[in-house]
Amino acid sequence: MATAAEVETEEETEMMKMVKLGSYDGKVRLLIVSGDSESESAAEETMLLWGIQQPTLSKPNAFVAQSSLNLRIDACGHSLSILQSPSSLGTPGVTGSVMWDSGVVLGKFLEHAVDSGMLLLHGKKIVELGSGCGLVGCIAALLGAQVILTDLPDRLRLLKKNIENNLRHGDLRGSAVVTELTWGDDPDQDLIQPLPDYVLGSDVIYSEGAVGDLLDTLLQLCGTQTTIFLAGELRNDSVLEYFLEAAMKDFVIGRVEQTQWHPDYCSPRVVVYILVKKLEK
Ligand SMILES: C[S@@+](CC[C@H](N)C(=O)[O-])C[C@H]1O[C@@H](n2cnc3c(N)ncnc32)[C@H](O)[C@@H]1O
Repeated sequence: MATAAEVETEEETEMMKMVKLGSYDGKVRLLIVSGDSESESAAEETMLLWGIQQPTLSKPNAFVAQSSLNLRIDACGHSLSILQSPSSLGTPGVTGSVMWDSGVVLGKFLEHAVDSGMLLLHGKKIVELGSGCGLVGCIAALLGAQVILTDLPDRLRLLKKNIENNLRHGDLRGSAVVTELTWGDDPDQDLIQPLPDYVLGSDVIYSEGAVGDLLDTLLQLCGTQTTIFLAGELRNDSVLEYFLEAAMKDFVIGRVEQTQWHPDYCSPRVVVYILVKKLEK
């Protein structure tokens, strides 16, 4: 049995772990505290997530219907209609032709965070990585941000269509443009001049092979004032652990607890992280 002093120390460590990161006003759970190594912290995080949330016990695709040609969702007072191409999903390497739960969770989290005064997106520059069908970027633009949605060069048609169909100039507070960006390649000047206030990504951590390029791109896009929101699907613990361990070398990472998400869009199969670049020594 733990002694009173040990219980107190554990409670103190838990409290030390809740911090404010970047431009998000809520407190997030820090993944690493001094004394722990990156690999220990990444392993502890994945063990915690799989142990407590038990993602594989609940059904995937709670908020999306990937066989449908259209996903309808209400956000920011608008009824959005996101076109999908389920048949393209069979093509090797194509994943963004349909929506994924973590995209819906991230989009609705942003709306909820803005509505509850935890986040200000109005007038801010945002770059979204791996936008897929574009829901997250659409919601960010409706929340008043100047959004650049990006994806691989041959995946932009559906994305452009969804932006045109859902964001009409009259009722748009922000703006949205689509441009190509392959992770690991040098970004176009308009993406980095000036550096974005926010970088967004949902379901972009799903293959160990892509982690190095994804992190290179995050590093290129981020200054000390940039806040990254990444929402991930809990499918594979070793891919997530690999990403976290590598990312912790250059970024401070905090997990946004589900109590801070949109109450109607919570899922034990999804995780939301905030990353900010470490200060250079
Ligand atoms: C699983 S989908 C997620 C799509 C969308 N964010 C969502 O949540 O519905 C992953 C996205 O990342 C994009 N992607 C994968 N590898 C990429 C790379 N190397 N460079 C740029 N985008 C990439 C895919 O084209 C796809 O749109």
